[in-house]
Amino acid sequence: MRLLSTLALGAFVLPAAAHAADPHSYAQPQDVVIKHIDLDLKVDFPHRQLDGIATLTLDWKNADAQELVLDTSALKIASVEAVDGKGQPHALHYTLAATVPSMGSKLTIEAPKHPHAVRIAYATSPDASGLQWLDPAQTADKRFPFLFSQSESTHARSWIPLQDSPAIRFTWHAHVTAPRDVRVVMSAPNDPKHALDGSFDFTQTHPVPSYLMAIAAGDLAVRETGPRSAVYAEPSVVGKAAHEFEDTGKMIATTEKLYGPYRWGRYDILVLPPSFPYGGMENPNMTFATPTVLVGDKSLVSLVAHELAHSWSGNLVTAATWRDIWLNEGITTYVQGRITEALYGQRQATEETLLAIRNLEKNIAGMPENAQRLTPQPRKIDADDELSDVAYDKGSWFMRTLEQKFGRKDFDAYLEGYFNHFAWHSITTEQMLAYLKANLIDKYPGRMGWDEVEAWVYGPGIPEDAPIPDSPRFDAIDKERAAFLDGTLAANKLDAKSWNTQEWMYFLDRLPDKPPLGKMQELDAAWHLTGTPNAEIGMRWYVHAIRSGDRAAWPAAAEHATRIGRLYLTMPIYKALVQTPEGFAFVEQVFAKAKDGYHPLTRMAVEKLFAKAREAQGKAAVGAD
Ligand code: BES
Ligand code: ZN
Repeated sequence: MRLLSTLALGAFVLPAAAHAADPHSYAQPQDVVIKHIDLDLKVDFPHRQLDGIATLTLDWKNADAQELVLDTSALKIASVEAVDGKGQPHALHYTLAATVPSMGSKLTIEAPKHPHAVRIAYATSPDASGLQWLDPAQTADKRFPFLFSQSESTHARSWIPLQDSPAIRFTWHAHVTAPRDVRVVMSAPNDPKHALDGSFDFTQTHPVPSYLMAIAAGDLAVRETGPRSAVYAEPSVVGKAAHEFEDTGKMIATTEKLYGPYRWGRYDILVLPPSFPYGGMENPNMTFATPTVLVGDKSLVSLVAHELAHSWSGNLVTAATWRDIWLNEGITTYVQGRITEALYGQRQATEETLLAIRNLEKNIAGMPENAQRLTPQPRKIDADDELSDVAYDKGSWFMRTLEQKFGRKDFDAYLEGYFNHFAWHSITTEQMLAYLKANLIDKYPGRMGWDEVEAWVYGPGIPEDAPIPDSPRFDAIDKERAAFLDGTLAANKLDAKSWNTQEWMYFLDRLPDKPPLGKMQELDAAWHLTGTPNAEIGMRWYVHAIRSGDRAAWPAAAEHATRIGRLYLTMPIYKALVQTPEGFAFVEQVFAKAKDGYHPLTRMAVEKLFAKAREAQGKAAVGAD
């Protein structure tokens, strides 16, 4: 980046060229970039495929360029044609390379005449990594099949042939057909009153990166939560969802007050089946969300604050490569905290922040030094692996540090200025830093040294003076936990009736890694954690119960891991169980039954874990001989 040379970034600096390219895409944006995509797709449930045409409008950058290189993954390409200014098609030669793990197949289209647009007829594969197809029996209401996408990080290429890099932005339109009575939604403004007539049109007028392409189709009802917001979910879920997310309108207004207008028009939320592999995904105009946050007391709705915040940090100002992902997730996690504080108060916001801080402190110590950096280099082979707690929690901690050093008033103005300055652009860490230097660090001299900024962004670990908020309630829970563990306080004498979700999470998080079995049994007898409807509490409880050797928790843990495909809530159960040979044998059975209901990403994550565990057991067995 040119900007880099104007900065004295000191010892941590890396060659500029290493940052600019996106190693997770075959695209050659210096030659040509996609400006607009027109999709004409059919949702074909019986064949589990999207089938149709993608027309890519191109902006040629290099007069000598010979080809258009696209990312694809498991796509069946039927034809590739050039479309000239008059709309006349001409067949083009193309080659589809062999599949490379985590990258897919490079599609090279010979196009020395630089056509205005290229038209690709294609179909997706039934096991596209970015799509999950569910049979009616796997849905809540069991009436219709269901389809949803998850494109971030590099899975858009498994359902659209395109340049799959967050640095490249395009507008798009889609015409989608589906069986009658099925509702189709996409990451563009959706009409809550749309007829279920099998034909849908979507227009995204803002330039967006490929990872924000999204589609879902199924038995979807709609409930409005405000003048510009609604929830979409299966009919039996939509009422609960509308109640849990009733503050969405207030959240939008709060964020606008802090950082300027919401620029996308409508903001809707789609609640997916429990196999959705993430908590939430910030698809423009239509956040995709896990149903595991529907616990009835709004205690987990900061997930909506988070995905909404991405409408500024991420969707408006986007990380240019997956190395820069902390720009999306770290700044968003900071903004999420501000929304939560404004709407639900300081106690709630502080507790959520402290949970993240304590977990990060615990985990970061055991990470390789490179993984402790906000900007790891060298990079991971799979873009999904570039994401870790560091991007979220160290990133947001850095933002809170800036807030503290410069004061809310100046820092809020700075952040609003940052969103406006880079609006609709994809930027690198170094571009962000140049703006930060000019508009905060140098503007208010004496508050924070540039070496401190560098330590946060390029250094390992957490700087020593990182601010930690006070929580008297968490302090009290630390005391209760200690008294419970040393036997001076019986489980049924814990003050847990007054604990909210986050306080339970905190109590469980800081239990010993392998707690005494008797203590876990006492806790369960008093508070009935086994079978809890709150999956955040359940995940933590099952992990500790399993580690303590409490076999009685296995069936409920298995039920949790079978029903929920959200990686963050399910993988810890698998990880706890593979530690012992008996647990491993048990969980292999669980997976055999669960895997048909899992998303491709969840399936792959469990298989990867099993392979590692087998290797470790093999080594242990060899060592024992
Ligand atoms: N954009 C992420 C989800 C994501 C990141 C998917 C990278 C694939 C690759 C989303 O905004 C997110 O952070 N979701 C969290 C929500 C939580 C922090 C409130 C999740 O899914 O747990
Ligand atoms: Zn996020």
